Amino acid sequence: MTQSRPAPPTVPEVRGRKRRQGGVPLVMVTAYDAPGARMADAAGVDLLLVGDSVANNVLGYDDTLQVTVADMVHHTGAVARARPQALVVADLPWLSYHIDLPDSVRNAASLIRAGAGAVKLEGGRSRVPVIEALVAAEIPVMGHLGLTPQSVHTMGGYRVQGKGVEAADALGADALAIAAAGCFAVVLEGIPRELAASLTEQLEIPTIGIGAGPDCDGQVLVMHDLLGITPSVPKFVRRYADLADQATTAVAAYAADVRNGQFPSDAESYH
Ligand code: KIV
Repeated sequence: MTQSRPAPPTVPEVRGRKRRQGGVPLVMVTAYDAPGARMADAAGVDLLLVGDSVANNVLGYDDTLQVTVADMVHHTGAVARARPQALVVADLPWLSYHIDLPDSVRNAASLIRAGAGAVKLEGGRSRVPVIEALVAAEIPVMGHLGLTPQSVHTMGGYRVQGKGVEAADALGADALAIAAAGCFAVVLEGIPRELAASLTEQLEIPTIGIGAGPDCDGQVLVMHDLLGITPSVPKFVRRYADLADQATTAVAAYAADVRNGQFPSDAESYH
């Protein structure tokens, strides 16, 4: 059942969507292809994230470090061809914005040309120059702080970040710096609820949480997690369906029908 929806927000509207000013929480979900984008868009989400988590959720890799700009352009194009109303945000993959500023702008531009309305990148104060360069090129940038999967090796695994005063202060400094550099919103992933609430209070731009508690200005989940397609999920995920089991049951029923001669029927044949 699809809900009637308000028009999805533009980048400036997302920037102004703070719950403390009465804004309705932002809803973002990942989409990696046209059918996924169509389903999520029909459900009335505000933002579709073509996440580099396409690596783990679709392409069979162990981590997000494996996807390239070409992969992200391919999947962003597929999402955009569904012509969603929701704002499409595409992830800049690892190493596409870490080395050279002009190349970073060109890489982000290729995602915009593929159909994204904004890009997302991971990291704090060290990313200020690239955020400024992208904003100067009229490319809206969403930040991503906390448990940043592209830093899996530096973090020593996928661990909750920002625990303890020093780590929380560092994250606070990162958040203020990327907001000042021009990010229009920031994803907070895998941090204590209390820290997410405090950052949400301090920042003028909206925070979009994933594993960061309920006090953010919005929430994002990986679509394959909430639909029950991924085999195991972290504790912050709520599963709203069990599609993997349903799909297996459906395919098994088809296989049985073929094997016992019940598919196709005469009505499913041409004459
Ligand atoms: O790629 C992704 O799915 C993400 C979300 C976890 C925010 O970046």
